[in-house]
Amino acid sequence: MSALQAVSASSGAAGHSIEFRNVSIRFNSFDAVSGVSLRIQPGEFVCLIGPSGCGKSTLLSAAAGFLGTRGDAPGAVEGEVLVNGERVRGPDISRGVVFQSSEALFPWRTVRENVAFGPRIRGVRGGELRDLIDYYIALVGLDHAADRFPSQLSGGMRQRVQLARVLANQPRVILMDEPLGALDAQTRSVMQREIERLWQETQCTMVFVTHDLDEAIKLGDRVVTMTAGPGAGIKSIYDIKLERPRDETTPAAIELHRALRDDVAEEVLKTLRSQRR
Ligand SMILES: Nc1ncnc2c1ncn2[C@@H]1O[C@H](COP(=O)(O)OP(=O)(O)OP(=O)(O)O)[C@@H](O)[C@H]1O
Ligand SMILES: [Mg+2]
Repeated sequence: MSALQAVSASSGAAGHSIEFRNVSIRFNSFDAVSGVSLRIQPGEFVCLIGPSGCGKSTLLSAAAGFLGTRGDAPGAVEGEVLVNGERVRGPDISRGVVFQSSEALFPWRTVRENVAFGPRIRGVRGGELRDLIDYYIALVGLDHAADRFPSQLSGGMRQRVQLARVLANQPRVILMDEPLGALDAQTRSVMQREIERLWQETQCTMVFVTHDLDEAIKLGDRVVTMTAGPGAGIKSIYDIKLERPRDETTPAAIELHRALRDDVAEEVLKTLRSQRR
């Protein structure tokens, strides 16, 4: 087996399950999320939508291990957040996080060095490190830009670097917080396909936060909508059985779009009314 095949085979490890068991999250006296229970299957692609400020990023942060787990971490998490059946006690390399902005990249490091960062911390060195980096840079289609700095890349390319950087850690779970929010419509559509392809290739579990209903319908095995906060919870869950790659212009997709739009609109209205009080 060649080094590349070895990298490819090891990246095909199955995703981990994620389970929220009656999870409530508080920031000081503010109840952000209340009583959320949701089980995400290994390898499943779940999209999370809901009004701004309802708690989508908060739930993602809880799964990432950024909240309430250490003395200095913000938020108090009640209930249980389990990944692969084990309680989340802090961040772990097996759970990758992709943020909306590419500020998460090191601006003073090239694409190659950004992608090498995680594997190097894991102790990967020499030829093995080179093969691993080359593999993931090629996977996101950035071979030609490997030696450029983030400032020399377009927004879409920077998001690809973020993806490659997360994938190079061979995570079992990828948590994406509006990863395509800052991109133009065309680049976004290309990146949606890329993310779908990378998910299928790596078989990891995906949780993907978005405000774009069509994006959720294109990508999700399930789409979960949230109620408006404070004390936000799950409003509805849609099983998306459409064949992949999906076309958002089919009648079934349009029907789903309407249902999701109505659910989210109802919650946005609630937020606006409560703000007027
Ligand atoms: N570290 C924090 N300290 C205090 N309050 C916080 C903190 N993080 C989030 N919140 C509050 O929790 C609520 C949920 O925030 P969150 O960022 O999860 O919303 P969101 O659904 O991701 O919104 P958006 O769609 O705008 O990104 C908000 O009212 C927010 O102000
Ligand atoms: Mg958010």
